Amino acid sequence: VIDIDKSSRLPGFYKLSLDERIEMVAAWANLTAEDKAILHGRTLSSTQADKMIENALGTFALPLGIAANFLINGRDYLIPMAIEEPSVLAAVSHAAKLIREGGGFTAESSDPVMIGQIQLLDIPDMNAAMTAVAANEQELMDAANECSQNIVKRGGGARDIEIRPFPDTPVGPMLIIHLLYDCQDAMGANAINTAVESITPLVTELTGGRANLRILSNLTDRRTATARCTIPAAALALRTTYTGQEVAQLIAEANAFAVVDPYRAATHNKGIMNGIDAVCIATGNDWRAVEAGAHAYAARYGRYQSLTDWHVDENGDLYGEITLPLSVGVVGGATKVHPTAQVALKILNVGTAAELAQVIACVGLAQNLAAIKAMATVGIQQGHMRMHARQVALAAGASDGQVQTIADQLVKEQNIRVERAKELLSVIGNR
Ligand code: MEV
Repeated sequence: VIDIDKSSRLPGFYKLSLDERIEMVAAWANLTAEDKAILHGRTLSSTQADKMIENALGTFALPLGIAANFLINGRDYLIPMAIEEPSVLAAVSHAAKLIREGGGFTAESSDPVMIGQIQLLDIPDMNAAMTAVAANEQELMDAANECSQNIVKRGGGARDIEIRPFPDTPVGPMLIIHLLYDCQDAMGANAINTAVESITPLVTELTGGRANLRILSNLTDRRTATARCTIPAAALALRTTYTGQEVAQLIAEANAFAVVDPYRAATHNKGIMNGIDAVCIATGNDWRAVEAGAHAYAARYGRYQSLTDWHVDENGDLYGEITLPLSVGVVGGATKVHPTAQVALKILNVGTAAELAQVIACVGLAQNLAAIKAMATVGIQQGHMRMHARQVALAAGASDGQVQTIADQLVKEQNIRVERAKELLSVIGNR
């Protein structure tokens, strides 16, 4: 069990060797020797992969890293993230550090309620069908609860029935029935799909219609998480260029761009998903489901827009907020079978799916802050330049211990070339 007083501030973590980082995180999160071996590469085997999908050839690896500095609802978290894109982990950790200065994130989530849909056609009398479903909501929910006793025993199960007529579609009138279903700590796709399939005979009997699709909706707008933060303006100041108030205002302007313009909103939200997907992948969650839900939710008012709000508050500080659907689980699916996902969940040490959703919302908000702060001030390329400089240093033959020093010097000189890296290396070598 993680000591909840432990800080996620890990100064100099990025300068450690990979082995040292594993040791540090292992000590932090009480990982076993087996967990460490998994981080060192003894992860998903081809045999396991062969049981997960059809026509398997093997596995596909991604970098796994740790984002530091997260303080959420008063507790420190180290965040495992699986992603191929440079700069995201550094960006997220940087933003979380700024947000810490304002007391960290506050986060909350709704109950883990999923929506299952039943599509009905050929209904003889639409009004009579709707009345019949409305009069039998409890029977329908009882029938849904019959089929998965386990979730019901754990406090989940059917919560409501919704009736949505579509009188005019390309194939004639259609009636859609929603089953709202609390999936507890599972992502819940299987549970909700089983539930809608099982109540369909009763629904067709009540409506006299013909059922076609019975499937969950990925627009899980009853299963959302919200993260908020306030950053003191002073913490945003950039030494020689901008005051904190100026940076706060630039960030608010950048957000407003994504509120009004879908072309910008797509990129803005893509950045948010850089953070969110990476945690979903690391924890074995279905990131496509989360992506689909996030983008559909971003268009909920009829125009696609930013998932975040950033504005300067009445004290002149920067306030940030994000709400999005997050159907993630901590039991079942790939969270259970993927060895690295198991270790990632151990590092996160979240008690429930709802807590995982809250953490993920915070990571999305942090990623967005880092991206728009960088773009609104120094420009996005500076961070990328640092990563590029590390790659150039490596290409010039720098050892693990030399890479950062050489890269820092290349950036300082704004001369990121292999020849210059080689010169610098020869100077170090001669010392
Ligand atoms: C790049 O992966 C993500 C950004 O484009 C996000 C953004 O523009 O907000 C930097």
